[in-house]
Amino acid sequence: PFKALVFDLDGVIADTAVLHHAAWKRLAGEIGLSFDETIGERLKGVDRMGSLEIVLGDASARYTHDEKHALAERKNGYYVAAIAQLGPENLLPGAREALVAARAAGLKIALASASRSAGALVERFGLADFFDHVVDAASIARPKPDPEIFLAAARALGVAPGDCLGIEDAVAGVDAIRAAGMRALGVGDGAVLAHADAVIGGLTEFDVARFVAMSGS
Ligand code: BG6
Ligand code: MG
Repeated sequence: PFKALVFDLDGVIADTAVLHHAAWKRLAGEIGLSFDETIGERLKGVDRMGSLEIVLGDASARYTHDEKHALAERKNGYYVAAIAQLGPENLLPGAREALVAARAAGLKIALASASRSAGALVERFGLADFFDHVVDAASIARPKPDPEIFLAAARALGVAPGDCLGIEDAVAGVDAIRAAGMRALGVGDGAVLAHADAVIGGLTEFDVARFVAMSGS
């Protein structure tokens, strides 16, 4: 059975994927770029500068390095203002219950979010005590789908990657989990998260006994 769970935050625990999306959409509108749902889906799980490149697309060449950082900062300002309004009602359904059940089952728990706002959100939601470790996104050099962030989480927990179950809503995140040598539980649409070992619609369907038995060594 698994010894640890490694959770993504945005779109798994917190209903914040929509806020990242809205902030990028606002920025795109301000600089006269189109923003459709395909772009929105591709942004999930992608780090800040990687997301900016997706939003800019062919327009990327029009901006200098410094201008790009200013654009990313502007988007982050919109996002940070949006999350300042959040409370426990913005946790996704089943999230707190899943963490309670994992704790009761004696599992270690880490958070592997690409977001530099992850720690602040965990505090805001009153979830800090559930996590044995929160990976500092700023300390990660290679964004998802690189396995670095999940490997850092496993190392901090002192658990082999093969004994961890990673939980993600993004294609890049599921790929990062698999590349780390962990099993992946997808949260969302099974057709989109085709590389996951199992997919649930949301954490209300998280059955700790079932998923802990799923594998591990
Ligand atoms: C991920 C989100 O968790 O964090 C992405 O899914 C976001 O949408 C990324 O771009 C980086 O977040 P931030 O808050 O550091 O810009
Ligand atoms: Mg996510």
